[in-house]
Amino acid sequence: MTSNFMFNHLSLLCFVPLFLRHSIAVDILKAGQSFNDTQVIVSAAEKFELGFFTQPKSSNFKYLGIWYKSIPDDVVWVANRDNPILNSSATLKFNTNGNLVLVNQTAQAFWSSNSTASLLNPIAQLLDTGNFMLRDSNSRSEDYVWQSFNYPSDTLLPGMKLGWDSKTGLNRKLISRKSQNDLSSGELSYEVNLEGLAELVVRKRNKTMFRGGPWFGDGFKRGRSKGGIFIYNPSFEISFSYNAPTNDPYKVVLDSSGSVIFSVWSIEENRWRTTYTFEGSGCEDYDLCGNFGLCSSGLVASCGCLDGFEQKSAQNSSDGCVRKDEKICRKGEGFRKMSDVKWPDSTGNLVKLKVGNKNCETECLNDCSCLAYGILSLPNIGPACAAWFDKLLDIRFARDVGTGDDLFLREAASELEQSERKSIIVPVVVPIISVLIFLVLISFFIIRNVRRRAKDNGVTITEDLIHESELEMSIAIIEAATNNFSTSNKIGEGGFGPVYKGRLPFGEEIAVKKLAERSRQGLEEFKNEVLLISQLQHRNLVKLLGFCIHKEETLLIYEYMPNKSLDYFLFDDGRRSLLNWQMRIDIIVGIARGLLYLHRDSRLRIIHRDLKPANILLDKEMKPKISDFGTARMFGEYQMETKTKRVIETYGYMSPQYAMGGCFSFKSDVYSFGVMILEIVSGKRNQGFFLLGHAWKLWNEGKALDLMDGVLSRDQFQECKALKYINIGLLCVQARPEERPIMSSVISMLENDNMPLIHLKGPGFYEERFLSDIDSSFSTSNNVTITLLEDGR
Ligand SMILES: *[C@@H]1O[C@H](CO)[C@@H](O)[C@H](O)[C@H]1NC(C)=O
Ligand SMILES: *[C@@H]1O[C@H](CO)[C@@H](O)[C@H](O)[C@H]1NC(C)=O
Ligand SMILES: *[C@@H]1O[C@H](CO)[C@@H](O)[C@H](O)[C@H]1NC(C)=O
Ligand SMILES: *[C@@H]1O[C@H](CO)[C@@H](O)[C@H](O)[C@H]1NC(C)=O
Ligand SMILES: *[C@@H]1O[C@H](CO)[C@@H](O)[C@H](O)[C@H]1NC(C)=O
Ligand SMILES: *[C@@H]1O[C@H](CO)[C@@H](O)[C@H](O)[C@H]1NC(C)=O
Repeated sequence: MTSNFMFNHLSLLCFVPLFLRHSIAVDILKAGQSFNDTQVIVSAAEKFELGFFTQPKSSNFKYLGIWYKSIPDDVVWVANRDNPILNSSATLKFNTNGNLVLVNQTAQAFWSSNSTASLLNPIAQLLDTGNFMLRDSNSRSEDYVWQSFNYPSDTLLPGMKLGWDSKTGLNRKLISRKSQNDLSSGELSYEVNLEGLAELVVRKRNKTMFRGGPWFGDGFKRGRSKGGIFIYNPSFEISFSYNAPTNDPYKVVLDSSGSVIFSVWSIEENRWRTTYTFEGSGCEDYDLCGNFGLCSSGLVASCGCLDGFEQKSAQNSSDGCVRKDEKICRKGEGFRKMSDVKWPDSTGNLVKLKVGNKNCETECLNDCSCLAYGILSLPNIGPACAAWFDKLLDIRFARDVGTGDDLFLREAASELEQSERKSIIVPVVVPIISVLIFLVLISFFIIRNVRRRAKDNGVTITEDLIHESELEMSIAIIEAATNNFSTSNKIGEGGFGPVYKGRLPFGEEIAVKKLAERSRQGLEEFKNEVLLISQLQHRNLVKLLGFCIHKEETLLIYEYMPNKSLDYFLFDDGRRSLLNWQMRIDIIVGIARGLLYLHRDSRLRIIHRDLKPANILLDKEMKPKISDFGTARMFGEYQMETKTKRVIETYGYMSPQYAMGGCFSFKSDVYSFGVMILEIVSGKRNQGFFLLGHAWKLWNEGKALDLMDGVLSRDQFQECKALKYINIGLLCVQARPEERPIMSSVISMLENDNMPLIHLKGPGFYEERFLSDIDSSFSTSNNVTITLLEDGR
């Protein structure tokens, strides 16, 4: 037997001495060869192994499986999960038609590759993707007759696909284990929904537990981050897969409780780190609110009704809703646009898709049983209408995750009048026959249309699942992302506590701020505040992505800024020279725009209260983003007595009114902004207000340009431009708030190239009166304070 020769080179399964693992690996099983439970097959680059194992470990239940070679305890694929070999040795071999069979000692078959093809010269090869493939030795790998990737267990590996393709006719899905220790098929599946609108769903038996949202709304395209690969080509393939972000082992597992867990292997910690969990909770829970219900996740899920509907039973919000006014058939009804919602369930007969038609509204209006419609665009196929019938289930607001779509809901005329509808809906009488054609053709149309384009390649959209995450993140995810808040992940100490860098699934980087104290607001109030602040979006504001409350800890999760903060560059003698004049101008203008948005354009009209270079973060292009806005709102005012350290750091940026009496206004931010302008042009910190005094003195002596940072060579800037910035800076720090400009004026000054210099009165804190006041109010707090102030003079 040639097999004996071959397997002398194979390492043994389990408890193998290390030196054997480095022996020559064989990745192919050839015709006539077999393979037993003392041996393993190793992929060419030694990434994966295939062999036998027992589960539970000490039991007699023997399985054939595949695992990452470096992680032998964690099986990613099992051949005979529902049919273990008991109390016997096991052998994998080829049968007479070339299929793989798994047999016990008495040749009883426990599993087979079951391909209908007959191979004369079969080979089975374990690839470095973890795919075990059976083919004829002369054919290419694309012409395999069987592959393990087509029969997933509970684990999806990079490159492995869920969903359907026309080649095999299979609808591949993950099936959970019965329990952690019982590999046999459980009741849960993670699969691509093939009826209605394509989306990923978790089902129990055949009942949907939760769904990821359809792939083709605009919301899905807006969804955050990258990684997933969605192929939609109804005549060939509808599938989901993903690429691994790094070379480290990566997997997606449907666990026995129904959570879909993305994890990456951490070599340092020798364990799987969860990077993302997709699970039914809150509004993700399928059909939480019943027919015509609407789930708002805010932070705790709550059920309401769609417009024009009311709760069926006052006691039970899961009971669904009923229409208030039933006159919705040729009675002047129309549609109400709902923005930012997750489209209703589309399985069964709930939805009809029609491709190529732009007038979705007329189509839906003409059919009295059409409840709602949505407009979508199928890549490479074109515009399409989705029309819902019978029920509207599992709708939620998705504004918090920014991935919702517009849904147009049929409503009685009375309802629409109530809300001052703008568009007049003209009832259109259409011959019955066209309604029938619509109904009959609608479901076939899409396929025919696609077939006509059959030569086109499949539609590939690269997106991922994370768009369904709630604003509230679980501590497990944050801990996994930040290596358990390891000191090596710590990137700074902000005003409210330490900040850690973290990495979410598919490599998305985040900054996690661990708040040093509990907000004095109630929990609901706090959550509400976070929600509001997360909706403030501007390119010069750091985005708040979410939060996490765990025991006594409150964490805020922000987008990660690779270039640290402005003070990191500005107040370091080496790094300061990296900031050329143009960059400094861009930073000043960017901060001004972000601040104007906070002050005037955002819904909340926020006063920042703590503007300083440490709170100006820089993205990879060195564009400034303001951070920590809104935090003051969450925590109420600063308490000077108890937070002396923070106050000192911040002191140079506080307007006199604020520092003295805690009286702040938009103009206090303008003051802080002015201080920053002077710091940015001079490269000096306004410690103890020295800079302001110095700048004012130079200005009055007509030597303002002496203030310019020495590392900026004279050929970098025009003198009049430089003077303009110093002038605006000094204007913003004038003692009296009414003499300082509002941010919109600051912007127009910054943008006006021919701005005449503006006459100035003295800056705040320059006057002796202020200095002595500060001195006395702080001299009791601690020594550091006094020293700082004395240095400053
Ligand atoms: C497994 O295969 C090896 C090599 O072919 C052979 O030496 C050994 O006896 C076999 N073990 C069993 C239990 O069949
Ligand atoms: C398997 O072996 C164990 C002990 O070796 C024995 O107790 C058990 O009855 C056997 N089971 C079967 C099904 O033969
Ligand atoms: C092989 O499996 C069959 C069916 O389970 C069983 O009847 C037979 O005893 C097994 N052979 C050995 C040697 O355990
Ligand atoms: C292979 O096919 C046979 C006959 O159709 C069936 O009894 C058996 O369960 C199949 N095995 C697997 C592993 O699908
Ligand atoms: C689930 O399966 C049952 C029984 O096979 C069937 O009656 C029911 O219609 C199925 N439900 C769905 C949603 O497919
Ligand atoms: C509420 O209604 C849902 C759906 O009708 C039902 O399954 C559930 O048992 C009800 N709950 C209560 C407390 O009545």
